Amino acid sequence: MSLRIIHQPLELKATLAGLRQNKTIGFVPTMGALHSGHRALLQRSKSENDITVLSIFVNPTQFNDKEDLKKYPRTWDADLALADAAGVDFVFSPEFADMYPDHFRYQLMEKEFSQALCGKDRPGHFDGVLSVVMKLFNLIQPTRAYFGEKDFQQLRLIEGMVEAFFMSTKIVRVPTVRESSGLALSSRNLRLTPEEIQLAPRLHQVLIQAVNASEATAQLQSSGFQVDYVEDLEGRRYAAARLGKVRLIDNVKI
Ligand code: PAJ
Repeated sequence: MSLRIIHQPLELKATLAGLRQNKTIGFVPTMGALHSGHRALLQRSKSENDITVLSIFVNPTQFNDKEDLKKYPRTWDADLALADAAGVDFVFSPEFADMYPDHFRYQLMEKEFSQALCGKDRPGHFDGVLSVVMKLFNLIQPTRAYFGEKDFQQLRLIEGMVEAFFMSTKIVRVPTVRESSGLALSSRNLRLTPEEIQLAPRLHQVLIQAVNASEATAQLQSSGFQVDYVEDLEGRRYAAARLGKVRLIDNVKI
């Protein structure tokens, strides 16, 4: 089967409904600007399911910073080429108005963990993420959905949502894909200056080497990062730090 692009939510729902008999559907939600991290999710889905659906939607409700939304990289042609090479069956790429016929009057929110870590600096961010993922799950009704450990807080919140709402999709965790320097691949890396790219791998190095979170914070600051947080929580060290205008996140097992 060759790649098919669908823009209309209800067209996607109807198309998959006609195909799904006795077939498994793997789903990889993304915001595009695809790289090898996304490719790892697609490969895993391909290997475990009959049909793989990729969504590409820069979801405005999860951006608390308008400038960040405007500057989010959009690389449609390259994304399609990567999707095609990875053997994706459907690319779903909706418009905002079609995904939010309610103008975001209805929202899904989590009231504890979503307020910690990235939630502190990005109010409403995870409400936007959970709401859009719920919409996508309802349209696609995937057997399995693939999320990267790179965004571990997001992954945990989605696992919690599936449990809380008795949803049938199995969430599959995919390990973070890194450059040989240790830098976690991210669409936002495209916005780093050449000097910042040299410095960026330090984030991961410090996270794995520092004895505790406050030492990690100090080391990152002296390397030139503006640290939003470093926190050790339930066996994981989470961090967000900025280089110039670009905010990088990472986490490691401790
Ligand atoms: P996006 O940032 O495009 O990420 C899509 C998926 O790719 C997420 O599950 C993310 O964790 C995973 N990913 C990104 N970089 C990765 C890396 N280096 N290694 C492994 N996986 C990686 O996360 C989102 O989009 C959005 O919030 C979304 C879930 C699509 C909702 O809008």
